[in-house]
Amino acid sequence: MRSICFSSIKGGTGKSSLCILVANYAAAAGYRVLVADLDIQNSASSYYLDSPDEADRKNIASVLHTERLAENILPSVYPGIDLLASSLDLVKLRAIGDRTLRRILISSNLPYDFLFIDAAPTYDNLVLNALNAADLILTPVAFSQFDYKGALFYEAQLRRETDKLSAWRILFNFHRPARTDNPDALRNQYESLFRDSFGDRIAPVAIPDTALIRRSIDTGERITPSQAKAPLHSAIASLAAYCGVERTTARF
Ligand SMILES: Nc1ncnc2c1ncn2[C@@H]1O[C@H](COP(=O)(O)OP(=O)(O)OP(=O)(O)O)[C@@H](O)[C@H]1O
Ligand SMILES: [Mg+2]
Repeated sequence: MRSICFSSIKGGTGKSSLCILVANYAAAAGYRVLVADLDIQNSASSYYLDSPDEADRKNIASVLHTERLAENILPSVYPGIDLLASSLDLVKLRAIGDRTLRRILISSNLPYDFLFIDAAPTYDNLVLNALNAADLILTPVAFSQFDYKGALFYEAQLRRETDKLSAWRILFNFHRPARTDNPDALRNQYESLFRDSFGDRIAPVAIPDTALIRRSIDTGERITPSQAKAPLHSAIASLAAYCGVERTTARF
């Protein structure tokens, strides 16, 4: 099972949306997918569950507390995807050992091809559990000062506190093509700043700025390669391939 974590110290960068879309892509392409929601905001859990009550007894906090993984997995509304749902009990686990999830995953032989983890926009031991459990860590960014500072912070913490720096990639989200090649344009200055600072740690995929992301998450509208949806379809397909999803799908 390959584990991919979406994580950033900054809020609203697209972690939950991209985690859901890539997980859906992998499932639609025929893989067995598990999604873990480590954020008490509950975004991925509310997307994947019909009713929040389903997570009362079975959830990721219970996994970390009891070290019983399989029995805390819930089926989701999306075919091919199961869920480790979020829980408010995560708040009580903020001081948990930072490799607990990694240890539990290694000792459980789960029948999934991919685990996608949605982390909370903070930096605590729960986030460290997600980072330490991941084979690939994706930090979505927009071209802004706060995103840039947040990425610098992550790089420093990953280097200092984990062995995961080599698994970490920045992912350009809310991406708009340059309107001019003028290096003084603010957008181009940010792109240069990110590229000069992070080089090969920038994933070779950019997710376009498009209202279709919110619409697809909020209404369940499927993404296909047709006309207006083609740029997002192609970006998520590329991101999925970067995550190790080898098969492709036309609709997810
Ligand atoms: N590429 C994009 N283009 C346009 N809107 C986007 C894009 N990516 C995400 N969004 C929108 O940005 C908002 C924040 O996205 P999302 O909730 O996925 O971020 P997040 O990083 O999970 O936030 P949080 O840090 O609060 O968990 C949502 O309204 C989402 O629809
Ligand atoms: Mg989120």
